[in-house]
Amino acid sequence: MRDSVRVCALAAALAGCLGAQAPAGGRGAPAGGRGGRGGGGLLAQAGSADKHIVDEEAAQRGQKIYAAECITCHGASARGAQNGPDLVRSVVVLRDRYGDQIGAVLKKNHPAQTRKPATYTAAEIEDLSHFIHLKLNDTLRTSPLFHAQNVLTGDAKAGEVYFNGEGKCNQCHSATGDLKGVGAKYDPVDMQQKFLFPKPAFGRGGRGAKQVMVTVTPPSGPAITGVLDKLDDFNVSLRDKDGEYHGFARTPQTKVVVDDPFKAHIDLLERISDKNMHDATAYLESLK
Ligand code: HEC
Ligand code: HEC
Repeated sequence: MRDSVRVCALAAALAGCLGAQAPAGGRGAPAGGRGGRGGGGLLAQAGSADKHIVDEEAAQRGQKIYAAECITCHGASARGAQNGPDLVRSVVVLRDRYGDQIGAVLKKNHPAQTRKPATYTAAEIEDLSHFIHLKLNDTLRTSPLFHAQNVLTGDAKAGEVYFNGEGKCNQCHSATGDLKGVGAKYDPVDMQQKFLFPKPAFGRGGRGAKQVMVTVTPPSGPAITGVLDKLDDFNVSLRDKDGEYHGFARTPQTKVVVDDPFKAHIDLLERISDKNMHDATAYLESLK
């Protein structure tokens, strides 16, 4: 392993880390594993509670496919090129678990080098996904943002300004309310992970009532609202307030509205700068 365990632990916390599952699993870390696999469901949607663990051999197989079929458009390190976007900064890739999201992109008439991407097998897509996540991890590890020793270099005052201003954190949080004492609860590494990937509270009766909700209006009947169970291109299911399960096939006439309290945090990944991140962490750590 090239990097120190600490750095790797943080990279792992954020995106899954090559051969380093154990250090990531500390206090407050979400349950790892392959929960989101193949679902395109809640976990993949929420993008938070699980992580993609890179399998090196699969990544090597994936690299071959990538070189043959993707490289001219997405670049040698997947950082993008003239004809294709940066995959390392891609939210699709961040949310992808074992190809579930990348596969969906490829199946939708994706441009091709030689082979029609719609013809890839599930195993090929999973291999590609391992390779792309490997590139993502490489990028995270070499980014100054992800060096643990730098986590607390932020400026708490600037973090407070960001929290109540540009970051709009105060729309949902309060330093004297729900986040009171949060600095004593998490060390800086866990803190950063917490606000990048807060964990949905699954099931009823757990801590906090924050869950991903969905309202489905089938063509024939009344709208039904409940806790989202699964959502993909073809089906949607939920549990209503009595705990009863409802499943629907999606048709163009089926209206599906998702209310995801974690969306703000997922969107944050796209816009937060390194400086804002350090400052916000320093500020949150000061709330003891
Ligand atoms: C001929 C050029 C080309 C080739 C070859 C190509 N792509 Fe793309 N790719 C694009 C373009 C353009 C986009 C953005 C538009 C879109 O999503 O269709 C894109 C988007 C994507 C995205 C979604 C990124 C995002 O954040 O929305 C993924 C994932 C992706 N490509 C993976 C791959 C993989 C894996 C391969 C090889 C199997 C591949 N692409 C081959 C041009 C290409
Ligand atoms: C649209 C609402 C919303 C916004 C905006 C938002 N958050 Fe959150 N945040 C949440 C939800 C929901 C949770 C999960 C809370 C729970 O499970 O009880 C959460 C969790 C957290 C946690 C973990 C708290 C804990 O005790 O585990 C931290 C830290 C946090 N957010 C920081 C931030 C920061 C910093 C910002 C601004 C950059 C921000 N949030 C913006 C909704 C939001």
